[in-house]
Amino acid sequence: MPKGEIVAGFIAPHPPHLVYGENPPQNEPKSQGGWEQLRWAYEKVRAKIDELQPDVILVHSPHWITQLGHHFLGIEHLAGKSVDPIFPNLFRYTYDMNVDVELAEAACQNAKDLGLVSKMMRNPKFRVDYGTITSLHLARPQWDIPVVGLSANNSPYYLTTEEGFEEMDRLGKATRKAIEDLGRRAVVLCSATMSHRHFQEEPDVPEDMSQEHPYSMEMYQWDMKLIDLMRRGEMQKVHDLLPQFVEIAFAEFKAGSFTWMCSAMGYPELPGELLGFGNVIGTGNAVFEWDLTKFGLATPASEWKHSRPFNAGRPSAPSSPLGGGSFGGAGPSIGATAR
Ligand SMILES: [Fe+2]
Repeated sequence: MPKGEIVAGFIAPHPPHLVYGENPPQNEPKSQGGWEQLRWAYEKVRAKIDELQPDVILVHSPHWITQLGHHFLGIEHLAGKSVDPIFPNLFRYTYDMNVDVELAEAACQNAKDLGLVSKMMRNPKFRVDYGTITSLHLARPQWDIPVVGLSANNSPYYLTTEEGFEEMDRLGKATRKAIEDLGRRAVVLCSATMSHRHFQEEPDVPEDMSQEHPYSMEMYQWDMKLIDLMRRGEMQKVHDLLPQFVEIAFAEFKAGSFTWMCSAMGYPELPGELLGFGNVIGTGNAVFEWDLTKFGLATPASEWKHSRPFNAGRPSAPSSPLGGGSFGGAGPSIGATAR
């Protein structure tokens, strides 16, 4: 078996507003659109995943909070309805996903070997959190590629931010080793917003973009400072600034998704590409890409020997009428592609 690779990592923020604005059939509330610039940024993520043809998409979500240890989805097929507890008016989404349990188990064991408290989630009725679902939907609305979901342990909250990030560093290394050992071709998603202060009142029409702007000049400037460094590839400076950024901007990176992703990719000191930025109820959201095939750090899809055909992620027909590859063309509000 050839050694597996992470072919790309994305900052993939999960405001439920972006799913609401798209109007996919899985989501009950309907909108008049909104947040187009972020949703168009996700169109580039979707195209890149088509190009890269990964076997699996891994996502670390701040909204699957586990008080004790780092947990991994460990059920092969998960389906149900996910409701955002803060914005139930925007997000009531029927999901249906397949999990790469073998990869999750390997990463979980590696995390234990590195001294982390880690556990497989084996509840077949588990309700997957909206952060995981939103990032995955926005990146791959067909749901035809198996996923691995990782929880956000609260270590950065009850330890220092730095101690919490150190755990996420180990979690990233554990993830990378599992991908390499099992020969997977993987994409990793950091499901997180940057500056995270938001307005306390929602407009009467949530998608009224005349009401949307940064929470404050300070929040905006911090987002731009970090993005500028990421665009330049000065990633060590980004990591050095992270604790300060988290403290000042209440950045959702505190939950560890960003550090986990960078660690899994081997901390590439490389310029990423900003695909789009936008504010959602005042928070700062960047859709950002590191395509490691561009830098010779991963194999292009054309040269990769797939162990199974791309888009063959579903081993059997999904039980849900909404499942399986029928979602890509959804969304009347923006246009002909997968919106
Ligand atoms: Fe969030």
